[in-house]
Amino acid sequence: DGSKYRLLGVRGLRPVRRLPDALLIGVKKSGTRALLEFLRLHPDVRAAGSEIHFFDRHYHKGFNWYRKKMPPTIEGQVTMEKTPSYFVTKEVPYRVKRMNPDTKLLVVVRDPVTRAVSDYTQAASKKNKSGMLNFECLAFVKDSGYNVVDTSWGPVRIGVYARHLTRWLRYFPLRQMMFISGERLIIDPAAEMARVQDFLGLKRVVTEKHFYFNATKGFPCLLKSEGRSTPHCLGKTKGRSHPRIDPKALEKLREFYKPFNLRFYQMTGIDFGWP
Ligand code: A3P
Repeated sequence: DGSKYRLLGVRGLRPVRRLPDALLIGVKKSGTRALLEFLRLHPDVRAAGSEIHFFDRHYHKGFNWYRKKMPPTIEGQVTMEKTPSYFVTKEVPYRVKRMNPDTKLLVVVRDPVTRAVSDYTQAASKKNKSGMLNFECLAFVKDSGYNVVDTSWGPVRIGVYARHLTRWLRYFPLRQMMFISGERLIIDPAAEMARVQDFLGLKRVVTEKHFYFNATKGFPCLLKSEGRSTPHCLGKTKGRSHPRIDPKALEKLREFYKPFNLRFYQMTGIDFGWP
C-alpha cells in the first residue's frame, strides 16, 4: 500500500495538505459564503469549510499550522480558504505576500450601505435586542443629526473599500485580484461563476445547471453539491430580512460613500452601479 502511494506521489496524485493558492479575503456580508459554496461544487476546488483567520489572528502559529488546516489536494486542484476580515486588516496583505506572492485574491463587494445594514443585522441578532442601539444611532456621531457619519464604527468603516484596496495594491498587482459583485452573484450566479472559474484557471464546470431560484428564500440555491444530492439553500443566517432604517439616514450614508465608491470604481475599472 505504501509503495502504491509513493508511486502515486511521484505523479502528484497522493492527496497532501498544501498552503492555499487562492484566498477569498472579503468583504464581510457581501455574499462570501455563497461564493465559497458555489466554488466548492467544482471538483478541482478544495476549500477549508470554516474561516481559518490565520493571517489576522493565528499568524504567530506559523505557515505549517495553517497548511494543516487545509484539505488534502492532488496536483492541479486549487486549495482555498475564506476569511472576510482579511480584506480590512492592515497587516494581512504583507503576510499573504510572504506566504506566496502569486496568491490569487477574490473579493466579493456589495453596496456599502446595504452591507452596513446587513452587518448591523447580524450583530443585533447575536446581542439581546434591547441592549443594542438602533442603526441610525450607531452610524452617526451623537447629536450631529444625520450629518456626521461615525467612521470608527465597524459596519461603516468596512464599506470604505477604496481605502482597504489601497493597502492591498501596495503588495499585489490588480491583475491578481478579482472583484465579484455581490448583487450580480444573486441575480446571475452562473455568469459570475464563469468569470471566477476563468480567473482561477479552472474549467467552467459550475454552470446554470447547478442553480435554481428559490422563490420562498428569494435567493439562488443549489441543485446538488459535494456530498449532497438534494437541492439546498444557504443557512438561515444568509439572506436575513433587515430592519427598517430611516430613509434620510440611508440617504446621508449614500452621500458619504459616494466619493469612496467612485474611487473604488476607478481603481478596479468596474462600475458596480451602487445607488
Ligand atoms: P443578508 O443576510 O443581509 O441578506 P456573507 O456570506 O459574506 O456573510 O454574506 C451574506 C449575504 O450573502 C446575505 O446578506 C445575502 O444577501 C448574500 N447572498 C448572496 N447570495 C446568496 C444566496 N444564494 N443565498 C443567501 N444569501 C446570499
